[in-house]
Amino acid sequence: MSLLFSPFTMRGLTLPNRIVIAPMCQYSAVDGCATDWHVIHLGHLALSGAGLLVLEATGVEPQGRISSHCVGLYDDACEAALARVLAVVRRHSRMPLGLQLSHAGRKASTKRPSDPGPVDTRAWPLVGPSPIAFADDRQVPAELDRAGMDRIVAAFALAARRAARLGLDLLEIHSAHGYLLSSFLSPIANHRRDAYGGSLENRLRFPLEVFEAVRAAWPAERPLGVRCNGTDWHERGITPDEAVAYARALRERGCDFVDVSSGGNAVTPIPIEPGYQVPYAAKVRAEAGIATRAVGLIHDPHQAEAILQAGQADLIAMARGILNDPRWPWHAAEALGETLAVPSQYRRAATRAGLPTRDHIPVPPAQYRSPSGAGD
Ligand SMILES: Cc1cc2nc3c(=O)[nH]c(=O)nc-3n(C[C@H](O)[C@H](O)[C@H](O)COP(=O)(O)O)c2cc1C
Repeated sequence: MSLLFSPFTMRGLTLPNRIVIAPMCQYSAVDGCATDWHVIHLGHLALSGAGLLVLEATGVEPQGRISSHCVGLYDDACEAALARVLAVVRRHSRMPLGLQLSHAGRKASTKRPSDPGPVDTRAWPLVGPSPIAFADDRQVPAELDRAGMDRIVAAFALAARRAARLGLDLLEIHSAHGYLLSSFLSPIANHRRDAYGGSLENRLRFPLEVFEAVRAAWPAERPLGVRCNGTDWHERGITPDEAVAYARALRERGCDFVDVSSGGNAVTPIPIEPGYQVPYAAKVRAEAGIATRAVGLIHDPHQAEAILQAGQADLIAMARGILNDPRWPWHAAEALGETLAVPSQYRRAATRAGLPTRDHIPVPPAQYRSPSGAGD
């Protein structure tokens, strides 16, 4: 049996295979509320046969959204909108569903990638660890004071409670790509002279405070992970050794997995090639002793299997590859000589690897039967 199609258990959740659909912003929300686009987008991915689908970076407060078109989980309207989307998806798929909690920090308030004009929409003032703009054409963020940090820690925790109520199976915290927590970790963005800047121990402090608050708010039986940078690709940025230290500190606080990504704290070239971030995941896995998810141009099933076989990661995440080919898991199963359950409605189109499934029968898992009950 291949490792890619073997199950993987974290706390009370067993993923049927190691293929994870990475979080992907859709810039399709209205006032933080998920829309019909999310029903279609998440619905079609939930029929793909992957082992886990992670919903996009979701703002824990309105100012924490990357753009005004991004999903939030900061009020009852956002929560109700996501509940509607999840109910439809759940009626037709049993794929475990995760969500990425995020605060965009000094990279918030942007336009949609498809919109013309300047990146920074100036829709709201930004906050960050230090008053240093991400780029020349971006706002200078206000340096977060203790009250602001407390507000954001509380917002992460409240959003985690909302996510628990929604019956999500897994949660991850975005601390990569230069967004707020990533910018606290990186000496490029963090020039503070208080207990939250300077030494590695100090730079870890705020992201760990957020992690602890979310772990306390999120049910103990459900897995919680973190997406972090293995490198900033910059001489003054986060180093792979610092990523290991962060992962160790997270593991000690009950973190179940780390997704190792990179970049986003500075405008700097990234040497992109297939599997370009895998060495960072492998280092974190080997030295921090935590389950690790590799991501970044892993689009070939044999490459994915080789990464797992070599012990470089426990899970494989993909974004662009599965947008391009939403049946990637079917094709990967065929390439690796595996079988995979596919919806019975699609059986006639499935590859030789496809098995019929009863997924279409609308029996949602227990936590979805009482949307207001679970998780508080
Ligand atoms: C459309 C799109 C949206 C993305 N949105 C997010 C996001 O919300 N959160 C995040 O951590 N990464 C996001 N990413 C990065 C991906 O999760 C992934 O790490 C990256 O694309 C590399 O993987 P790939 O080579 O398989 O695409 C996004 C990528 C794409 C293509």
